[in-house]
Amino acid sequence: MKRIFSGVKPTGHLTLGNYLGAVRRWVEVDQHRSDSLFSVVDLHALTVEHDPARVRRLSRQAATLLLAAGLDPKLCTLFVQSHVDEHARLSYLLECTATDGELRRMIQYKEKGARALAAGEGVRLSLLTYPVLMAADILAYGTDEVPVGEDQTQHVELTRDLAVRFNQRCGQVFTVPKATHPEVAARVMDLQDPLSKMGKSHENAAGIVYLLDDEDTVRRKVMRAVTDSGTDVAYDREGRPGVANLLNLLAAATGGSPEDLAGAYQSYGALKRDTADALVALLRPVRERHAELAADPGYVDQVLRDGAERARGMARPLVDRAYRAIGLLPAG
Ligand code: AMP
Ligand code: TRP
Repeated sequence: MKRIFSGVKPTGHLTLGNYLGAVRRWVEVDQHRSDSLFSVVDLHALTVEHDPARVRRLSRQAATLLLAAGLDPKLCTLFVQSHVDEHARLSYLLECTATDGELRRMIQYKEKGARALAAGEGVRLSLLTYPVLMAADILAYGTDEVPVGEDQTQHVELTRDLAVRFNQRCGQVFTVPKATHPEVAARVMDLQDPLSKMGKSHENAAGIVYLLDDEDTVRRKVMRAVTDSGTDVAYDREGRPGVANLLNLLAAATGGSPEDLAGAYQSYGALKRDTADALVALLRPVRERHAELAADPGYVDQVLRDGAERARGMARPLVDRAYRAIGLLPAG
């Protein structure tokens, strides 16, 4: 059976981008067809300026939302990254496999590093080594597939390179994984700035649909989405990024194809209205289920405890093997 691993960072409230780019597929497809693990990757939230209490709160909220979205602890393993020591343990070995040059080439490092500098903050060393920890997350479980949005492609490529290099130098230990992306909405764009990805921590929330936004807020954000100067509705990602984004969202929510849907609309207003309706209907059950689960934190804690124990049992033997293969003396 295929092994699948993916994760989400508790750096902000989960967005529609997270849901359509990753989480929905974990729920609908991945957990049913594989031996899958999904993680709230909290160590990754410490790579930029952070507030400890907020990270703690967002970690619990993310886990609760993943359950609300439909991850089923009977089908998959859901856990918090920092509860399983093997991630950090393996990360060090992979730091001894990666080079400084290849990490400095990572797009997210360049973008987030520049942002930290512009804000007058130091660039944390962990921002540079972050993709190595992500590689450890993936490789510790012998993962075959990593279902992610398009923005993670470069990180998964690095993970593959590290796995191959380690195996060549030290002997066959790691499975070489591959990234998988959804057919539609692999990259959901910001509603106010359709040239940038809809990200959790953008300063302007008007362009971001959060999974826990109430219905009026979702509707208002979609109705105010920036469109393009044309008037007819056409699917053109480069020329008409705002309209293309709405068509992608409508397609992802209703199951059509963005090209076909474009033909059904004469005006931007009608497209926005239908997109807003479709998104409200898509998110309603997730929000309702989240409210129920949030009222029972004991249940969520129990799921995370069980998940961490299962994950530890899977990662430990593989990481021990990597320790031996790289030349470290077994503890006896
Ligand atoms: P992150 O919020 O960076 O932890 O991302 C968690 C998952 O959601 C990853 O698989 C990302 O690729 C995916 N994701 C985040 N933002 C978007 C977006 N705007 N469009 C598509 N996928 C996204
Ligand atoms: N870097 C990913 C992101 O920003 C989150 C992540 C960390 C991840 N470790 C992972 C995703 C392992 C997939 C597999 O979205």
